[in-house]
Amino acid sequence: MLDSTEDFADERPDVAATRAAYDDIAELYTELFRNHLAGAVLDRAILGAFVESVAGNGSGPIADLGCGPGRITGHLASSGARVFGLDLSPRMVELARAEHPQLFFAQGSVEELPIGDSALGGIVAWYSLIHTPPERVPHVLNEFHRVLASKGHVLLAFQTADLPDAVEAFDHKVTRAYRWAPKRLARLLDAAGFAMIARMVREPGPDERFGQAYLLASKVR
Ligand SMILES: C[S@@+](CC[C@H](N)C(=O)[O-])C[C@H]1O[C@@H](n2cnc3c(N)ncnc32)[C@H](O)[C@@H]1O
Repeated sequence: MLDSTEDFADERPDVAATRAAYDDIAELYTELFRNHLAGAVLDRAILGAFVESVAGNGSGPIADLGCGPGRITGHLASSGARVFGLDLSPRMVELARAEHPQLFFAQGSVEELPIGDSALGGIVAWYSLIHTPPERVPHVLNEFHRVLASKGHVLLAFQTADLPDAVEAFDHKVTRAYRWAPKRLARLLDAAGFAMIARMVREPGPDERFGQAYLLASKVR
């Protein structure tokens, strides 16, 4: 199903910049976020709801897309989910494999998933779609729709925009990134063939600058 490649010759410049930035920061990122979920009760709550929703459907594994060092992949696996990870950054994939030797990780991009049609029961994109230029996000959501089985679930996490219907570039610490108004991203999910199940917005935590949003949806058409 997954046939990852490390030939980056045809890569778009912004994708190459994101990959290089995460390769450079991978070790530090892994250390900084290793225990982050332990103190994030609402994040764990929505991840738990996602795992139960996917299990209730009984169809296919979960892909953690833009998995970084695999902290969400590992958390979902420890909740009983069948899950694997995929990330743009080869260094992140190496670290994810070292952190979670029992799980499968591959290198690849959300813009061209090396995954067959209708193969997955769930997709989580936890702060990874934030790096895709907004005009290419509809294509990525179409990719998510393609690889999910009927009624499969998708969970997105991202920083919220200040204006109610905006998408805004911001000075992310690693590389260029975008904050979204939840309803704007929800509209794109709808256009890609997903029905919204839940939207959670929480206030910034002590180490965060922005509100944080989580959208849970399922493939309906
Ligand atoms: C903020 S980190 C989040 C990592 C992980 N989801 C977590 O929460 O710890 C963003 C991750 O998305 C990955 N990423 C960015 N653009 C991507 C793309 N087009 N395809 C796959 N992964 C991507 C980066 O390499 C990076 O590991």
